[in-house]
Amino acid sequence: MKVGFVGAGKVGCSLGMLFAETQHILAGYYSRTSTSAEDAADFTKSKHFQNLETLIEESDTVFITVPDDVIPMVWDSIKHMNIAGKMICHCSGSLSSKIFKDIEETGAFGFSVHPLLAVSDRYRSYQELPKALFTIEGNEHHIDEIKSLLDKSGIKSVTIDASVKTRYHGAAVMCSNLVVALVQATQDELRKCGFAEDQMSDAIAPLLAGNVQKVLNVGTKAALTGPIERNDLGTVAKHLDTFTGIDRDIYRILSIKTMEIAKEKHPQSDYSKLELLLNNQED
Ligand SMILES: NC(=O)c1ccc[n+]([C@@H]2O[C@H](COP(=O)([O-])OP(=O)(O)OC[C@H]3O[C@@H](n4cnc5c(N)ncnc54)[C@H](OP(=O)(O)O)[C@@H]3O)[C@@H](O)[C@H]2O)c1
Repeated sequence: MKVGFVGAGKVGCSLGMLFAETQHILAGYYSRTSTSAEDAADFTKSKHFQNLETLIEESDTVFITVPDDVIPMVWDSIKHMNIAGKMICHCSGSLSSKIFKDIEETGAFGFSVHPLLAVSDRYRSYQELPKALFTIEGNEHHIDEIKSLLDKSGIKSVTIDASVKTRYHGAAVMCSNLVVALVQATQDELRKCGFAEDQMSDAIAPLLAGNVQKVLNVGTKAALTGPIERNDLGTVAKHLDTFTGIDRDIYRILSIKTMEIAKEKHPQSDYSKLELLLNNQED
């Protein structure tokens, strides 16, 4: 199998490098700017292509690793080429393989192949890829070939239904990007308490890292501590009186979700007063 990439950015370079190192199956790169394709080809010891058609000709499997909004445009160019029997993949988390409109008429097979990982570096992130779970969705008759391609590079994958891709991607955003926002909210409030920038990391790291590790080890219910679980109405009321604006909204909404966990953990406890307090939206 020969794998070609359209889009020599972070995901294209990372996945290409992993395929090159583990299976020596790389055809090479085509990208919007030829310097990107050249750099990626140098990095992965593969070829760069000056035109899309030649890359497609020389590849059995094509990964379209361009920004999500550009995938339909690239597909519009590719679908008129001779692609019968080829596997066409994109790596978007929120889009499904259905973005490859009318692919049945071309004789090619479409897939979405998404790493559950923030891929932040064109040249280093490939080392992280085998730690990530990939989700695959697409042509049911050929999906095992994509699974096997990932398998051979040490990548774990699960199949997912096209209909849940948006929900799945939103869920992934909650435990990655939205955690960043939660840390930002914490820092903003600590700054108001007089913490200096160089104290932030010491203040936050044990709480954040300790919690993540505990949730991963024992699950959300067993990991939960704090005033919501303790049904400590007075403390929660004071927090709500202190915070304002978006930080108050974040605290209140996430406390409602936290209370759902607490209720399951302590079915004998009466959380109704806390529930009333948290559902009062007034600042
Ligand atoms: N980064 C992540 O954390 C991550 C994680 C999971 C999935 N994904 C998905 O992976 C895909 C790629 O994301 P990325 O982060 O790798 O993006 P990226 O680093 O911005 O790279 C996109 C690449 O596409 C190229 N490109 C743009 N328009 C093009 C066109 N019309 N024809 C050919 N090439 C074009 C760019 O070109 P030039 O460099 O040539 O200008 C760039 O190299 C997206 O679908 C994204 O949702 C990303």
